[in-house]
Amino acid sequence: MQRIAVALLLFTFAARADDARIEALLRQMTLEEKLGQLSQYVPDQPEMKPALEKGLVGSVLGAVDAKRVNELQRAALAGSRLKIPLLPGHDVIHGHRTIFPIPLAIASSWDVDAAELSARIAAREARASGIRWTFAPMVDIARDPRWGRIAEGAGEDPHLGSAMAAAYVRGFQGEGLLACAKHFAAYGGAEGGRDYARADMSEATLREVYLPPFQAAVDAGVASLMSAFNTVGNVPATANAHLMRDILRGEWGFKGFVVSDWAAVAELMNHGIAATKKEAATKALAAGVDMAMTDATFMELDTSPLVDEAVRRVLRAKFAAGVFDDPFADESRVLPLARAEARRIAQRSIVLLKNEGSLLPLAKSKKIAVTGPLAASKANMLGPWASEGKPEETVSVIEGLRAAGANIVPEEEAEIIVAVVGETREQSGEAASRASIELPPFEVRKPTVMVVLSGRPLAMAWAAERVPAIVQAWFLGTEGGNAIADVLFGDVNPSGKLPVTFPRVTGQVPVYHAQLPTGRPANPESKWTSKYLDVAIEPLFPFGHGLSYTTFAYANLKVDGLTVSADVRNSGKREGDEVVQLYVRDVVASVSRPVKELKGFRRVALRPGETKRVTFTLTPRDLAFWTEKGWVTEPGKFQVWVGTLMSELEVTSPPAADRR
Ligand code: NOJ
Repeated sequence: MQRIAVALLLFTFAARADDARIEALLRQMTLEEKLGQLSQYVPDQPEMKPALEKGLVGSVLGAVDAKRVNELQRAALAGSRLKIPLLPGHDVIHGHRTIFPIPLAIASSWDVDAAELSARIAAREARASGIRWTFAPMVDIARDPRWGRIAEGAGEDPHLGSAMAAAYVRGFQGEGLLACAKHFAAYGGAEGGRDYARADMSEATLREVYLPPFQAAVDAGVASLMSAFNTVGNVPATANAHLMRDILRGEWGFKGFVVSDWAAVAELMNHGIAATKKEAATKALAAGVDMAMTDATFMELDTSPLVDEAVRRVLRAKFAAGVFDDPFADESRVLPLARAEARRIAQRSIVLLKNEGSLLPLAKSKKIAVTGPLAASKANMLGPWASEGKPEETVSVIEGLRAAGANIVPEEEAEIIVAVVGETREQSGEAASRASIELPPFEVRKPTVMVVLSGRPLAMAWAAERVPAIVQAWFLGTEGGNAIADVLFGDVNPSGKLPVTFPRVTGQVPVYHAQLPTGRPANPESKWTSKYLDVAIEPLFPFGHGLSYTTFAYANLKVDGLTVSADVRNSGKREGDEVVQLYVRDVVASVSRPVKELKGFRRVALRPGETKRVTFTLTPRDLAFWTEKGWVTEPGKFQVWVGTLMSELEVTSPPAADRR
């Protein structure tokens, strides 16, 4: 908190001095020069070269090596009458040269320091390549694994998602790389899990579920946001003044700038709310977009105070990124890959879903066969958005197992099979929605450890029945194979927990832990209750699930006002980390409240026999919900769960109204 306060203070002083320079520039700029600042292009786009020569490019996206970025920057400065540098941006999503686990995997670590560290390293590497702005973190809550972009975010939960969002912003910006929280907003609420599709929801769901990670990013000082492709209600996010003006700037006090997603301004015509590029640009600007990505629509705008406002914001970001005073990157700077950190973060991101008869960990002397389509794959390990990560520098599962000293034999001779299955990187990420997320079954002939590489929860009910050990490894990045070997052989005790619910079959989707109750809770004895005829109502693996090679026991749950504490003990024989989770339920409220909501978590390292007391302090806001009057916390009883324990908490008098 203090660090953030100091950073904000320094930022404010610097910003004042820059403001004078910005106003001086604005006074000299022509309308065309202003609109150029609000336009972003990719280097190989036809509009780019002539615009650059006339000094009419605000930002480039996707130039990724220092030499190329410097060339573009030189051209921009030569073309710009007022010597305004470019802001070079790129999708540095989960690493730049060193690739870390996909964000959904890092969320499985429930380790905010790991998330922050991955962003710091990514930022250093990106800066060395001349990049000053990343289009990350992606903070979209996603409750539908048909949607391929679930890979890029922190999963289904706003509390975990907010913690991760803030950590990434601190990490990127702490190393001088501007961050961009995206996609504002509710992009993850895509109907049917179809990418770019509408999101239609109540204001309460928008506020309680989809917006909190954005607000967390804003509170952490994020420099920019990206407006989403989708409609929210019936209004495209990129023309949505309620989102960008009322909430983002009005309520949250955001001072940074908003870039549209790729051609999202021009796409307002496809959405059917603008007839021409000019009309689309005018609507986007009016709603709060400051820069148009790739579609050159903002070049059509007329003079207006809104244009000046947007230019101010963009120039301010350029000062914050340091491009005015230090426009070029050092081309000789080469950073070594951060393999040790990538491996450690990958180890923490792995979730042990099932381990019947303690099949895992494996003794290295055991004769194992390594099968499955993804066993030797390096490229897939990098995941759908791997920036400058190189397959040849990436450790596959089989390489990781070999390096760890595995006794690998042909299948016929093996005692144990390690089957590496899942989906390819192309089946995950943007424009990779799947109508069926079933993991294809295979024949299980010997004791099998199934390692799943994927960017989404896959439906694997058959495997949960027939395969004794299941390891959810996601896409783990450069050091993935080594981290998987570390866990399979027990050099590392798995500690990841699911940040998203795993359905039994696709048809259960959407299924998530914070569901509202129904008037007819599922009852297998009664037909007239909320359930399916053909499949159980419960998910295959719930949110927060994850096994360890040791066991943990909870005791002494105590509730004192809004403070909740409990003992957690390592009751097994190996060192291990437990992710202690706190859930609440508002028992009786004026509106229906979720049956369970995550409100706190703590990762605790415990030696065998060791006990630690974990304390959570809730705030009234943690217990609040959105109404027409804003956020309210109603007095009354709340159920509280920590680990396996449950108790009650009472809010006695209405707590002070909380703006947020
Ligand atoms: C479109 C994607 O939706 C967005 O996340 C990304 O940052 C931009 N393309 C730029 O590559």
